[in-house]
Amino acid sequence: MSEEEKEKYLEKRGISYIKNYNNEKIPQNYMYKHSRTYPGQHPQTSNMENIHDMISMLQKENEFLKIQRDDALNKLSSKENITNIDRVQFEELESEKKITLNNGHSCPLLGIGTSHMQNAAEVIYQSIKDGTRLIDTASKYENEEEVGKGIKRAIEEGIVERDDLFVVTKCWITEKEDPEKALRNSLVRLQLDYVDLYLDHWPSGKCYNGKENFKLVSMREMWPKMENLVEQNLTKSIGVSNYNVQNLFIILSICKIKPAVNEVEFHPYLYQKDLKEFCDKENIKIFAYNPLVKGSYCKNRYEKEMLEKGLDLLNEDIVKDLAKKYGKTEGQIVLNWHIHLGTIPIPGTSNPERMKENLESAKFEMDADDFEFLSALSEKKEFRFCDSLPIYGIDIFA
Ligand SMILES: NC(=O)c1ccc[n+]([C@@H]2O[C@H](COP(=O)([O-])OP(=O)(O)OC[C@H]3O[C@@H](n4cnc5c(N)ncnc54)[C@H](OP(=O)(O)O)[C@@H]3O)[C@@H](O)[C@H]2O)c1
Repeated sequence: MSEEEKEKYLEKRGISYIKNYNNEKIPQNYMYKHSRTYPGQHPQTSNMENIHDMISMLQKENEFLKIQRDDALNKLSSKENITNIDRVQFEELESEKKITLNNGHSCPLLGIGTSHMQNAAEVIYQSIKDGTRLIDTASKYENEEEVGKGIKRAIEEGIVERDDLFVVTKCWITEKEDPEKALRNSLVRLQLDYVDLYLDHWPSGKCYNGKENFKLVSMREMWPKMENLVEQNLTKSIGVSNYNVQNLFIILSICKIKPAVNEVEFHPYLYQKDLKEFCDKENIKIFAYNPLVKGSYCKNRYEKEMLEKGLDLLNEDIVKDLAKKYGKTEGQIVLNWHIHLGTIPIPGTSNPERMKENLESAKFEMDADDFEFLSALSEKKEFRFCDSLPIYGIDIFA
């Protein structure tokens, strides 16, 4: 089909293309609801017919990948994989303390983030001792060795076995050309034979142009290499991070192995309902970073905005009131909101007492109304803190 024919075909269906930052064509209808670059395009991502149209188009463009259209459509429309988390399931999950990913592997309800972590070997060791099972690191955090030491010590002392842990690391933009080399390097630093989840850290390197030296690698080029890592048992699952709906479309249109996880900024000031709904439909779990809105970049970059807009999540009246009502800390209230929603929070802390406190946040259940009150914060005060637009001038979240 020629370019012209494609456009006509799409036009008939009310779909026109725009180009994304990777110069890849994206049907305009699917612009993410909170798009700042293309305001006015607020698609219903639940329209499976349009999704199928788009998948079919992208596959035609990618015949060299030899992905069968029917196979991809079947994967996308297979209902049995869909596990939207509701309150009933939440109760089951609470007792199991695990959720199941789309590939059958299970994952804890909450973890620990390690970016900017001080004394990571000791903190990770102690937090495993206290019950943490999910550990989120990245080559970019430059602490994989330390994290690995903590894990090794906990295993050697018989506190856990390797299989009890869920270790996540990520492929940084400078490593995208060769994810296998990147992951093997991470494994050496972590002193592990495999990780549980390997993520593509950012969908595009473009926003970092001029800051780090690297070759731009498209998602289509990279994803088959990520899939190969599962085939080689170097990771149990693969996923993505900071991907919006359009980016996920691209991966879903070419993948043999679906991303199991999308790790994104997510909290009551940034309740990304469209993205969450889309991920639920595709059975992609959301890992929530900056879950407490305490990431170091919040105050560092946005102190003025935080003061002006009153963005101080743990000091919000509603959070304080709920903390009193349930006899919990403010942090536990917010983390419980995440767990209730089925997003997996990965709060960072170097303080073992805090980690114990955070682990306890899975052990109670908020009333539905209270959950809604917290969710409503996003309508009044929506804010993204880990944002490419003001820093790099490119809106990767559009
Ligand atoms: N994929 C990505 O692009 C990406 C981007 C950003 C972050 N992440 C991941 O997400 C993790 C968490 O995100 P983040 O560090 O940005 O945000 P965060 O978890 O909201 O904030 C971390 C801060 O929260 C404090 N804290 C932890 N538990 C607390 C509690 N119960 N009550 C009050 N304060 C508490 C910690 O202080 P103390 O140390 O004093 O306890 C720490 O300074 C990171 O460590 C990293 O693993 C991923």
